[in-house]
Amino acid sequence: MGKVIAIANQKGGVGKTTTAINLSSALAHYGKRVLLVDFDSQGNAGRGLGVDVTALPFTIYDVLTGEKEISAVLMKTGEPRLDLLASNLKLASLDSYFIQKGKNNPFYALKEALVPVREAYDYIIIDCPPSLGLLNINGLVASDSVIIPVQCEYFAMEAVAAILSSIVQIQNSYNSALRIEGFLLTMYDQRTALGTTIAREVRDLFRESTFETSIPRNISIPDSTMQGKPVTTFRPNAQGSLAYFALAREILGHV
Ligand SMILES: Nc1ncnc2c1ncn2[C@@H]1O[C@H](COP(=O)(O)OP(=O)(O)OP(=O)(O)O)[C@@H](O)[C@H]1O
Ligand SMILES: [Mg+2]
Repeated sequence: MGKVIAIANQKGGVGKTTTAINLSSALAHYGKRVLLVDFDSQGNAGRGLGVDVTALPFTIYDVLTGEKEISAVLMKTGEPRLDLLASNLKLASLDSYFIQKGKNNPFYALKEALVPVREAYDYIIIDCPPSLGLLNINGLVASDSVIIPVQCEYFAMEAVAAILSSIVQIQNSYNSALRIEGFLLTMYDQRTALGTTIAREVRDLFRESTFETSIPRNISIPDSTMQGKPVTTFRPNAQGSLAYFALAREILGHV
């Protein structure tokens, strides 16, 4: 049975999608079968893999509303062993759809949707949106563990406190098995005082659960997104790629 890992932090722009794409690609590089679930209506995980998400006839929205089988919506990507469950702006209307239909257990929709494909993958990586709303809760309820990217910037620790309290609430109410896979320092620049200060704070507070690997700020990462490719295949020797390969190896070493 595949391991389901959410990438979550309600703070915007901290490297969730970049981590989701490149961790997925790096795990596939190491021979694992991976499904990347784009669970954000911005559709950036799909775009980062070169998909024109605005033109898709069906997306994860149609799976969650019961209109389509998940197997009919899954897409191959340009990367071997990496599949995508794409999303687009339509996903933003899921809350109102569920309210209108009076849906029972709306927080379990993603978990239930993934059941038919859990055997087919070694890892299912969920790129969560920057919110603590319905989608984020669904992402955490569906997951075995969560990676929390922490950008080494102002207000990083406030965001960490908020996501941690959300995780505890979910553990208490819906998914007691949810574990923290790790805190991941992103866009880390060790030449800046702020970067090193935040990194030290996170490592001091969460020593056991902070990944040894940190992701450096690296221009090859936005460059590869522009090309619609993971940096790990677009420029496999770039510092950003080496970091995501190292992160994948750390995760492969976790039980
Ligand atoms: N290590 C890095 N080096 C340089 N740029 C980066 C790095 N990681 C992410 N970025 C850039 O920072 C921006 C935000 O990253 P990303 O989209 O991954 O964040 P996010 O947390 O998914 O954002 P959102 O909350 O909007 O979903 C993007 O333009 C991305 O290319
Ligand atoms: Mg994102």
